[in-house]
Amino acid sequence: MPQYVQRQHRRGSVGFPVVGSRLAPSHASKKHQQERLIEPPAYSEPASPPKCRLGAFPQVPTDLKSDCAVPNIDCEEFGEATGKGPMHTVVSLFSGCGGMDLGFLGGFRFGGQHYSRLPFEVVWANDIDGLACDTYSKNLGREHLQRGRIADVMHTLPDSADVVIGGFPCQDVSINGQRSLDGGERTILYERMIDVIRRCRPKVFVAENVKGLLMSHGKPFFDQMLADFALPGYQVDHKLYLAADYGVPQMRERVFIVGVKGRSEFIHPNALDRRMTARDALGDLEEAAADKAKAHIWSKAQRSPEQGDRRLKADKPATTIRAEHHGNVQWHYKLDRRISLREAARLQSFPDEFEFVCAMRATERQIGNAVPPVLAWHIAKAVGEYIDPDRV
Ligand SMILES: C[S@@+](CC[C@H](N)C(=O)[O-])C[C@H]1O[C@@H](n2cnc3c(N)ncnc32)[C@H](O)[C@@H]1O
Repeated sequence: MPQYVQRQHRRGSVGFPVVGSRLAPSHASKKHQQERLIEPPAYSEPASPPKCRLGAFPQVPTDLKSDCAVPNIDCEEFGEATGKGPMHTVVSLFSGCGGMDLGFLGGFRFGGQHYSRLPFEVVWANDIDGLACDTYSKNLGREHLQRGRIADVMHTLPDSADVVIGGFPCQDVSINGQRSLDGGERTILYERMIDVIRRCRPKVFVAENVKGLLMSHGKPFFDQMLADFALPGYQVDHKLYLAADYGVPQMRERVFIVGVKGRSEFIHPNALDRRMTARDALGDLEEAAADKAKAHIWSKAQRSPEQGDRRLKADKPATTIRAEHHGNVQWHYKLDRRISLREAARLQSFPDEFEFVCAMRATERQIGNAVPPVLAWHIAKAVGEYIDPDRV
């Protein structure tokens, strides 16, 4: 029997010193000042609870559950209990609803596979979007989550961390976005991640972004970004990942920039032999009635251009699940309706136990913005192997 440990206790044992002041003025570039002007208003706690609570499907195996404070993580103690040393600490930026964080933690089930608990503990996470924070808190805990604008909460960062992760906002380089590139206000937020790396000096950092960075319109900006990430003492590498090659039923392509402190090279995980299709992922829901409590509800939007008219193919992984589509999410491969929120979450490899704690559009955005947890798990495992090859 695995040793289950109240995650609350472990987290309580990690100190989060409120240290130092804001970053040195030299980092407060003109671009950073722009950030203040364009960001959405700072988050404030809602006066009333979120509109709906979207629950999970009961048929999902529950053998991973314990009385843990974090419902979707099995809370099997990886470190001390197995005599393998302490957990690697993770600082998570632009955390959204927590897709990438869940992948780093592991200890969940998806598509009949168990993704084991990995030797990481997220000690600090942040997002400006209050609704994404609600979902994050519900699934991954709230004690380490800082709500608000990154610039306003950086003073609460720990002095050091083993790993820094972040999928910085990508609207300005997305092929679906405005392509404003280095003039785009949101994309400069990657510089915040560099500030955090300078401060925490992690052994490894992982930054995620859209494929548009590698395309001709994004390349000059990407080259500049790589040069900026190549801080003294770090080797920086990047790879375009196809999520379908890593157990995610979706043809999502994303660039991951990995920086390692040290001389040995980071080994990216190998692609798997088999791809999961849309039917593999959604087949058991074909007969399921709409159910708000399980997030099995769908947009009634009629035909519309581009993605709005796309129908999934049953025997292929899904096309990319996007964050902004105004209800024009893909059509089901067989049924006369668009896919449900829960189906979109599955195509992003979220376990059914992952709950989205808000209304439809916000949930669509959180799902589409996320790094697929299963893809993140494969990358996290490789990060763990890099940090401590004898352990994972
Ligand atoms: C691409 S999403 C990240 C998704 C996340 N990595 C995941 O796997 O679920 C980018 C996130 O950055 C957040 N964001 C945008 N501007 C921000 C800022 N100034 N400070 C903190 N978070 C910000 C957005 O709210 C959004 O959730």
